[in-house]
Amino acid sequence: MIRDKCAIVVGASSGIGEAAAVQLARRGYRVALVARREHELRKIAERINSRSPAGEERALVFAHDVTHFNEVPELFDRIAQSLGGLTLVVYAAGVMPRVEPEEYDFSKDLKMVEVNLLGMIVWLNEAAQLFTRLQAGTIVGIGSIAGDRGRKGQPVYNTSKGAQAIYLETLRNRLAKHNVRVVTIKPGYIDTLMTRGMGNLLWMISAEEAGRLVANAAETARATVYVPARWRIVAWLLVHIPSFIFRRLDA
Ligand SMILES: NC(=O)c1ccc[n+]([C@@H]2O[C@H](COP(=O)([O-])OP(=O)(O)OC[C@H]3O[C@@H](n4cnc5c(N)ncnc54)[C@H](OP(=O)(O)O)[C@@H]3O)[C@@H](O)[C@H]2O)c1
Repeated sequence: MIRDKCAIVVGASSGIGEAAAVQLARRGYRVALVARREHELRKIAERINSRSPAGEERALVFAHDVTHFNEVPELFDRIAQSLGGLTLVVYAAGVMPRVEPEEYDFSKDLKMVEVNLLGMIVWLNEAAQLFTRLQAGTIVGIGSIAGDRGRKGQPVYNTSKGAQAIYLETLRNRLAKHNVRVVTIKPGYIDTLMTRGMGNLLWMISAEEAGRLVANAAETARATVYVPARWRIVAWLLVHIPSFIFRRLDA
């Protein structure tokens, strides 16, 4: 492991992951772009590489479905080798299918748990082991404000996000003594494919702005970062609303 500033971004083919990867490349990182839509990844890599200093290939493409859990250990090692080092892993893959108020569709539930939670665990377990050996490194997981309470609209999306936050906190507490930072990002509403068609959402920001804030957090933060920061106040208020009132809200 020799090269400084090398990152893996899982879920880099659109939205927050794409924007974070572009930001990191701008800041001098060599970035491995991971997701299923290889064509999108190649377009993003071309854009990054065309703006890189002459001859430098800052973005590499690895097509992968995070629900193919068994592939991860070998792929993780192969990516680290190809990058020439590894200092940062960002897990941004996620799905949130539409769920009707009375709908309980286990196939949708399974997909959310597999992509949002289990995919994160299998990727970040690899990162935790490598960074423990290196006694250095940063792990960033994209959670959500949705994980702070059990909102009635999206039972399993909220569950996956709440569980992500707990898993990331345990990693942070385990890895602190090994000089490894673990950052939990909790975005509010971001303008991406995930929120397309949902209308005007409170304090919506662009994916580019979110990507910039995620890259800032990856470089400096030590715990949980709300994106944008003003969501921290709303989250604090929501967490303190008693259950019997919260269940009446469309929060
Ligand atoms: N947008 C918001 O308002 C918002 C708010 C809070 C939290 N978040 C979280 O932010 C993260 C990024 O979402 P986004 O808003 O940027 O949405 P997005 O544009 O839909 O991006 C989702 C990313 O996840 C990847 N992905 C989905 N399933 C995958 C699979 N099976 N294997 C590999 N990659 C997979 C997608 O790539 P492929 O389809 O190419 O595989 C894509 O790169 C998610 O965890 C989401 O829950 C978003």
